[in-house]
Amino acid sequence: MNKQQNIGNKNINNKGNNNNDEVSKLKQEKRLDREYQKKIVERKKRFLEDLKTEDGVFDNRTLLTLHGLLNGKHIDEFLGIINSGKESIVFSAIKENKYFAVKVYRVSTCDFKTMWKYIQGDPRFHLRKSSTRQIIHAWVEKEYRNLKRANNYVNSPKAILRRENILLMELISDDEGAPSPRLKDAVDVDYSKFYELIREDLKTLYNDAQLVHGDLSEYNILVKDGEPVYIDFSQGVVVQHPLSKSLLIRDIKNICNFFKRKGIACNYKELYKYITGEELQPIDEELANNY
Ligand SMILES: Nc1ncnc2c1ncn2[C@@H]1O[C@H](COP(=O)(O)OP(=O)(O)O)[C@@H](O)[C@H]1O
Ligand SMILES: [Mg+2]
Repeated sequence: MNKQQNIGNKNINNKGNNNNDEVSKLKQEKRLDREYQKKIVERKKRFLEDLKTEDGVFDNRTLLTLHGLLNGKHIDEFLGIINSGKESIVFSAIKENKYFAVKVYRVSTCDFKTMWKYIQGDPRFHLRKSSTRQIIHAWVEKEYRNLKRANNYVNSPKAILRRENILLMELISDDEGAPSPRLKDAVDVDYSKFYELIREDLKTLYNDAQLVHGDLSEYNILVKDGEPVYIDFSQGVVVQHPLSKSLLIRDIKNICNFFKRKGIACNYKELYKYITGEELQPIDEELANNY
């Protein structure tokens, strides 16, 4: 782009000197522009082709939606796969020096029965009998809404948009676009400080955002600039949800187990009380165990 701008400037400087020169330079400029555009289109095509063959699980509709993101105003280029899981693939992408994460749910391998169970109890959704695809779309919508809600209260990737089975969000990364590590893999972590930060965040999430993460562990917390960043709110539920207590207990136990392994004193009953302001009742614990 700079090259073309330079050519453009030269044209202005030479104005009036030689018309033919100017015309041929303009032509060359247009040709370069066309070639540049073609290269980009080819690169995008190749990426999607690679996905199709290498992965073999993206249906045509998903590929079309990915195409739509590339051709629309949201993404210039996919950079690579960050994580490939059973139910979803996460890519990094770039648009004008800003980095994004694109989470794509695999329609064919999603556990839609579990998804259905979570969505059914959520007062924000009124799905009657639905197709697998509709359930997955509602699932992504739920993750998007949970993330948007969380964005206002705790460190979390900014939710940008959701389209069908695809969620677009901010990439948690360094300045060069290298994704931040998970708490599980991060080095040089001040665990004692981290535990305190997570305690406070969970209290804020529960009381102010009225949200339970639902799948909290060292796998779904990233470490950036010495602070926790929460991701993967797909299983998140509002506190009114019938499963919210069971999920909170599970989240807290996961967190305690992790920090205990790191030598931090952690008692899940005490943590439960700190977050909810209530004693943990044996019946709730029993329900959580059986869940
Ligand atoms: N916004 C993001 N920024 C950086 N890395 C991310 C982001 N979202 C996901 N990841 C990476 O992708 C992995 C999988 O994403 P996640 O949302 O946890 O999906 P799932 O666990 O359902 O496969 C994460 O563990 C993390 O390493
Ligand atoms: Mg995860």
